Amino acid sequence: MTQHAVAMPDSFSADAALAVLNEGGNAVDAAIAAQFVLAVTYPEAGNIGGGGFMLIHKDGQQHFLDYREMAPGRAHRDMYLDENGDVIPYASLFGTLAAGIPGTVEGMWQAHQRHGTLPWARLVQPAVMLAAEGFVVPEKLAGRISRYIERIEARDIDVNFAEFFADAKAGETFVQTELAVTLMRIRDKGADGFYRGTTASIISEFMADNGGLINEDDLAAYTAQWRQPITAQWRDYTVVTSPPTSSGGIAILQWLGMYDRVEQRLGVEMKHNSVDYMHVLAEVGKRVFADRGEYLGDPDFVDVPTGDLLNDDYLDQRAAPIQLGKLSLTESVKPGLKESEDTTHFSIVDSMGNAVSNTTTINLSFGSGVVVEGAGFILNDEMDDFSAKEGVPNFFGAIGGKANAIAPYKRMLSSMSPTIVLQEGRVKMVTGSPGGTTILTSVYQSILNALVFNMPVEAVVNTPRFHHQLLPEHLIRHHPGIDASTLNALVDMGYNLRESEFGDLHVILKTEQGLTAASEARGRGKAVVEVTE
Ligand code: DON
Repeated sequence: MTQHAVAMPDSFSADAALAVLNEGGNAVDAAIAAQFVLAVTYPEAGNIGGGGFMLIHKDGQQHFLDYREMAPGRAHRDMYLDENGDVIPYASLFGTLAAGIPGTVEGMWQAHQRHGTLPWARLVQPAVMLAAEGFVVPEKLAGRISRYIERIEARDIDVNFAEFFADAKAGETFVQTELAVTLMRIRDKGADGFYRGTTASIISEFMADNGGLINEDDLAAYTAQWRQPITAQWRDYTVVTSPPTSSGGIAILQWLGMYDRVEQRLGVEMKHNSVDYMHVLAEVGKRVFADRGEYLGDPDFVDVPTGDLLNDDYLDQRAAPIQLGKLSLTESVKPGLKESEDTTHFSIVDSMGNAVSNTTTINLSFGSGVVVEGAGFILNDEMDDFSAKEGVPNFFGAIGGKANAIAPYKRMLSSMSPTIVLQEGRVKMVTGSPGGTTILTSVYQSILNALVFNMPVEAVVNTPRFHHQLLPEHLIRHHPGIDASTLNALVDMGYNLRESEFGDLHVILKTEQGLTAASEARGRGKAVVEVTE
């Protein structure tokens, strides 16, 4: 029996990916088609105005494509600070100045050049049709759009989002004509249909008229980078995951590695979502985020000490002070190396055993809230992922320093963590999620759920998760559904708790019975396994 499987953020992208696979396209072809469809039907995160990471397992080899946005050429370190040196609220989150140079179209083009098999135009066409002829707006999307419009109006944020999206009503067909024409140029001219010619001049003129920085030179200068994925042995598996510009691979492997060390020291297996389990993983989270803030940034600009941060001795030493029943003081958890140095996800497996794990984003829902007039797509607000000022948290509460300071053409540090777990060289699990810094947690906890606690795939994505990231102090954010007695015990220990809905996992898991797939119930995802022979 051969099978293929998809776990996607919505039904349109799932159907487009399955159609490509059924036509004989590979997982990369399906990913490209899905990515463009999401730019139409999942406007809160799907995009051509943003960026992302694609992790590919193909013919036994692993490849990682960094199509993260870059800071415009005229960006500078202090661009979001006022005359007193304070961070200007919202400047890196809304409006044209919040946008980095989009990377998605170049990313898809590069992926297609190296690994695609079906014609490019075939892969872009489903998105063109959905934009030109419209799609029926799902209720969850309509709800997100109307809540977003209420929020920006309540805060008096001056962006043009509502002009383009106020008409998207649940159950009604929503057409995006300008976006359709932009997608047609991409379909017909490839990456040049976005980075050069008509689209580039529309973007550049819109930016100039509206206080933005991105110009035609910036668009022409954009490159996506093929990078070596981080690959590490963990238990009986090989974890293949995201290298910098993502913080994800390092964080996930530190989390899994320190968890194992504490468990070995204790000599007992911790029970899933018990007080000890949540405490130990929160303690590890403190250490992960102290390192993230200090050492991680764009590897084309800073030397990221990846090997040192994942070294066995280092993880031994970092895990050693973790004790049951006792919280480390936040200020005592420093970056650990001695010498100081400086959203949406989908998973696809094709019938040949190739896999794609792809996370893509425009940062916050609906990005900067700005639609490029005349081109019909939403611009990202990814600049907020840089550290606008040393030690001042960004939207996701992450702090950073020199390694993640703004510089022209630099990529901002990301938490997106597309990950593939192999067993004896074959795909065991494909996982990933949106959620800013909580992505790290959603991904490593999905791995523990599947491969340590042996949960079926629906439970892997839907079991309540919890997140701690050093700051705010002692705060554990958790999904609803964790035992009240466990939560009370954590409060008694000194933790602060906040219930929050984070993440949207899309996971494919190989079992003895074959492929299984699930999308988290809170979203509007669709996961399908089909028998191909
Ligand atoms: O790259 C990052 O880490 C963020 N820009 C991701 C944003 C995100 O996941 C938003 N989703 N909830």
